[in-house]
Amino acid sequence: MAKALGGVAIVETPAALAAEATEVFVRSAAEAIGDRGRFAVALAGGATPRGLYTTLAGEPARSRVDWRRTWVLFGDERCVPPTDPESNYRMAWETLLEKVPVPAGQICRIAGEATDAARAAADYEATLRAVLEPDAARCDLILLGMGLDGHVASLFPGSPVLEERDRLVAAVETRAAVVSRRITLTLPAINAARHVLFLIAGAEKARAVAAALRDPASTLPAARVRPRDGVLTWLLDRAAAGALGRPATT
Ligand code: 6PG
Repeated sequence: MAKALGGVAIVETPAALAAEATEVFVRSAAEAIGDRGRFAVALAGGATPRGLYTTLAGEPARSRVDWRRTWVLFGDERCVPPTDPESNYRMAWETLLEKVPVPAGQICRIAGEATDAARAAADYEATLRAVLEPDAARCDLILLGMGLDGHVASLFPGSPVLEERDRLVAAVETRAAVVSRRITLTLPAINAARHVLFLIAGAEKARAVAAALRDPASTLPAARVRPRDGVLTWLLDRAAAGALGRPATT
């Protein structure tokens, strides 16, 4: 099995990706709780993390995480109610959160249903600062998927919010996705994390993976994820790694 703690790790299948991501999640939780007494994780939306969430919700992984010392945050949310099939919160709730003993008050969802998305973004920033250390606002672990166009969370190519320096959370609009209005962590919030873990599967992502990892001039949002003082792991299945040329670390 690949060692998914920093760098590029390639596994054979989406199932192996879920298994490896589960190991990283369990180890990150244990380390954070051992060092600081608690674990703050930001979940990713989209389809790729479903396997991870389902594995985490079952044994033996479920019992290896101290859920009572875990705070659950979100990397982004679509502007829909939490019951909507497009809601990232709903996906995480159904696959993981309703099945593990994380205290309800420690599940911090983004209010996708709010009519004023900018206000909801500001409110979520206040939540982040309250849950995390107020000055540094560092998540212990941020999970990220990546879109075909290299977007991460809801940071899409060409978006002015990619230049954000101060805000940790922003409301955005995009024509690149079915749900156009979204609320997202910004690069300063993502790059403050202790560990950012990309989970990427499928041959259709291979070009964007190669562009983000191999092109030093890439301006793709994924290429701009570089934790300032933390670990960055790209966990790929073999298909997603297909355009990388020589294998990176395995
Ligand atoms: C979202 C996301 C988004 C997602 C990627 C990859 O809300 O849509 O958080 O950034 O992670 O689009 O999505 P898939 O895993 O479905 O390919």
